[in-house]
Amino acid sequence: MDLRIAVLPGDGIGVEVVDASMRVLDVVAGKFGHKVHAEFADVGWAAIDKHGTALPASTREICKRNSAILFGAVGLPDRDQTLPQKERPERVALLELRKGLYANLRHVLLPPGLASRCPLKMELIQRGIDIMIIRELTGGLYYGQPQGISGASPDRKAIDTLAYSESEISRILKVGFETARKRRKRLTSVDKANILATSQLWRELATAMGKQYPDVQLEHMYVDNASMQLLRRPSDFDVIVTENTFGDILSDEASMLAGSIGLVPSASLGEPGADGTSSVPFYEPIHGSAPDIAGQNKANPVATILTVAMMLNYTFGLSKEAAAIEKATFAVLNAGKILTGDLGGKSTCSEVTDAVIAGL
Ligand SMILES: NC(=O)c1ccc[n+]([C@@H]2O[C@H](COP(=O)([O-])OP(=O)(O)OC[C@H]3O[C@@H](n4cnc5c(N)ncnc54)[C@H](O)[C@@H]3O)[C@@H](O)[C@H]2O)c1
Repeated sequence: MDLRIAVLPGDGIGVEVVDASMRVLDVVAGKFGHKVHAEFADVGWAAIDKHGTALPASTREICKRNSAILFGAVGLPDRDQTLPQKERPERVALLELRKGLYANLRHVLLPPGLASRCPLKMELIQRGIDIMIIRELTGGLYYGQPQGISGASPDRKAIDTLAYSESEISRILKVGFETARKRRKRLTSVDKANILATSQLWRELATAMGKQYPDVQLEHMYVDNASMQLLRRPSDFDVIVTENTFGDILSDEASMLAGSIGLVPSASLGEPGADGTSSVPFYEPIHGSAPDIAGQNKANPVATILTVAMMLNYTFGLSKEAAAIEKATFAVLNAGKILTGDLGGKSTCSEVTDAVIAGL
């Protein structure tokens, strides 16, 4: 198969971790008889310095004509401060490239060999942690209208609107059920149906859709309870599906359970052509550009390597190839000998990458 990918390393460690993951991808593609067509493009400060903007037209074009986008990270805090909020690279590049992508998936997996890196007590994580969090990304409080601050002090008023349509809720619930079906067949739908109208509609639609997925065990959970249960009994969660704001908070909370921000991959998915947009699936590690360790070969490449595995799975349907990457990566982590500094090791980004490739 031809794997056509737009590759946007961006700033800081984005460059190192994307390079590492592309090395892994090349080896897997070679082993399984695929051809990688990677088109590299500038984004973030790397693009501002060359083209005067964080997302040049040439980069948009490259993204549009490929089947997937592999993204490193953008932003450099010292330089970001010199720009107004809305012109900062993270805002400009991420908002634009993720437009129309309504499903954000984060895979939080604690390798058993790294259990001591998890902030929870051993007795709470004995059965392991492997959670796929699915956050709705294009609706809810972030986009609802009216929104803003009006009036004069001290009588100003602020308003945000939480709105969801049936179709927006149904399409993300479907991603939840389909994902659960391919995993351990448990779906936790998180809402606040005791208070919010949007959550009441959400719960009604989830219950109805559950009838089409008799093989998936559906449970409903209030968001306040979910934030507590994630820390009390994380092993019980398989797939979590929730709306934008709840997902923003819960996915950050859950990411901590993996042991390091350098281990968590993510995907943002939509339906190509839906809403008149041609949304290209967007894959990135959840971490930023980490300027404190950039350019020193210290970054943990695992999140980006696992991001490539997600890309093979979700965009190209290559589950065996994805599984091969995951197996080789977790073997390295579980062995506990070749680890980067964020995991208490002394190995470099290149050494971890070499070890994963050796395992392939
Ligand atoms: N999607 C994105 O592009 C994205 C996401 C988050 C932050 N950012 C940007 O990145 C810049 C730095 O942000 P930050 O410092 O808040 O977050 P960060 O994720 O870059 O770093 C937070 C801490 O985690 C460490 N870390 C992160 N990834 C690591 C890895 N792979 N291996 C080892 N250690 C790792 C860093 O060294 C740092 O100590 C900012 O400009 C921010 O706006 C971009």
